[in-house]
Amino acid sequence: MKVLVVGAGTMGHGIAEVVAIAGNQVYLSDISKDILNSAVDKIKWSLSRLYEKGQLRESPEDILSRIKLVVGLNEEVKDAELSIEAVPEKLELKRQVFSRLEELLPRDAILATNTSSLPITEIAYAVKDRRRVIGTHFFNPPVLMQLVEIVRGKDTSDDTVKKTYDFIVKINKKPILVNKDVPGFVVNRVLLRIITTACMLVEKGIADHKTIDAVARYKLGLPMGIFELVDYTGVDVNYYVSSAMIERGFKAYYCKTLEEMTKKGELGVKSGKGFYTYP
Ligand code: CAA
Repeated sequence: MKVLVVGAGTMGHGIAEVVAIAGNQVYLSDISKDILNSAVDKIKWSLSRLYEKGQLRESPEDILSRIKLVVGLNEEVKDAELSIEAVPEKLELKRQVFSRLEELLPRDAILATNTSSLPITEIAYAVKDRRRVIGTHFFNPPVLMQLVEIVRGKDTSDDTVKKTYDFIVKINKKPILVNKDVPGFVVNRVLLRIITTACMLVEKGIADHKTIDAVARYKLGLPMGIFELVDYTGVDVNYYVSSAMIERGFKAYYCKTLEEMTKKGELGVKSGKGFYTYP
């Protein structure tokens, strides 16, 4: 299958890697060569880790040879049968991408979004045929996280849901089907409640972030602390996701710290500083 991944950032490069590992041809598109080169470096690192552990059936080079880099969105990608958009969580930007995809791709191509907070139905308004728009929400890092939420928008057809479900199974992920297009779907309605509650405890001076992370690791049994996870997935991502959900009626504590850190550029692992510092 030919799959287009739009956006080569934290999620996009990982999704492209997963799709290529499963034997598909991938177009990986972003706005600049530099972003694409950095994505390839990350994919190479990840593939070499998996290869050393005997978790790949092919060499990293063979898998990489199936990923074609594309600057911008142009005719090169026009035979993609499915696209997965993974650009930043900004509704207008996503709509622009979807409207361009409708111009470029075959009329029966599935148009999926990896949004973690914006309603699929609102994104779908950018295209004429909304039956083929669907959510495929991967988790970071896509190559290690098993779960993918498949989210049905108001107008998504049963055929699109079925084909997407089958595709997610074929790339060796465990899909769950979310039939209600509510802000944050299922996972982020649980996760953001935990993150914003943890933030409230810190902002009210009840506990510091290290104490809360100790609770997460040593009592709740999570693989990383709550604030470690925010740093890992991106302080900015958590800010945009929680804001978008709260704006759409999700009842949760508004974490001012996320907003302040995002404005200061303290974005977590990717910027070298978040709740913790990274060399
Ligand atoms: N590719 C290949 N291997 C990787 C990798 C990647 N991208 N990332 C980590 N690894 C490997 C490491 O190299 C390491 O290998 P060794 O054991 O051989 O050294 C192994 O995985 C474990 O990594 P670490 O020792 O660095 O750390 P860890 O044991 O804590 O595992 C983790 C890392 C798998 C990410 C684990 O901490 C984890 O599962 N964390 C929770 C992640 C999570 O919940 N993600 C979802 C977030 S929500 C989201 O993404 C969506 C949203 O809407 C915001």
